[in-house]
Amino acid sequence: MVAKSRRALFPGTFDPITNGHLDIIRRSLSIVDELIVAVLQNSQKAALFSVAERIELIEGEVKQFSGKVLVRSFSGLLVDFAKNENCMTVIRGLRAISDYDYEAQMALMNKNLNPSIETVFLIAREENSYISSSIVKEAALLGGDISKFVPANIQKAIVRKVTAL
Ligand code: PNS
Repeated sequence: MVAKSRRALFPGTFDPITNGHLDIIRRSLSIVDELIVAVLQNSQKAALFSVAERIELIEGEVKQFSGKVLVRSFSGLLVDFAKNENCMTVIRGLRAISDYDYEAQMALMNKNLNPSIETVFLIAREENSYISSSIVKEAALLGGDISKFVPANIQKAIVRKVTAL
């Protein structure tokens, strides 16, 4: 019997993608066959990169996963997008305990909205446990070295953006 291929969704703002996100993507591929990175449109957060720019940056980084990672944008409810994309699993990374409240709230709301969809949490690696797109952008804006936290191309894109502000 041929096993059914497993697909999951990894949603987020990705403004921009960091080494923390890439580690979650890499580790998700040991659990599922295909992953859709879903970039939220119309987020309440003020973004440094447009959705099109974020998608282009993510696509550049996920090439290494030989076509197993697709990048899409979505608006509206995450569970509706997941269902339309045939993904019954949503993957989220958990860093410090401070992520827990927000993540549990979101997972429970999503469970109420569509009980067939499961959220799976991967604990961030220690070295990524304090990284977020926001803190990396803040460090870059103030002239800090962000090379340990994002891939080289992303670093270049951030530096280009912040120097143009
Ligand atoms: O990277 P982020 O900002 O933590 O990602 C948050 C995201 C995009 C996963 C979340 O805001 C989301 O799923 N938004 C879609 C709207 C939605 O479905 N809301 C109801 C469930 S809380």
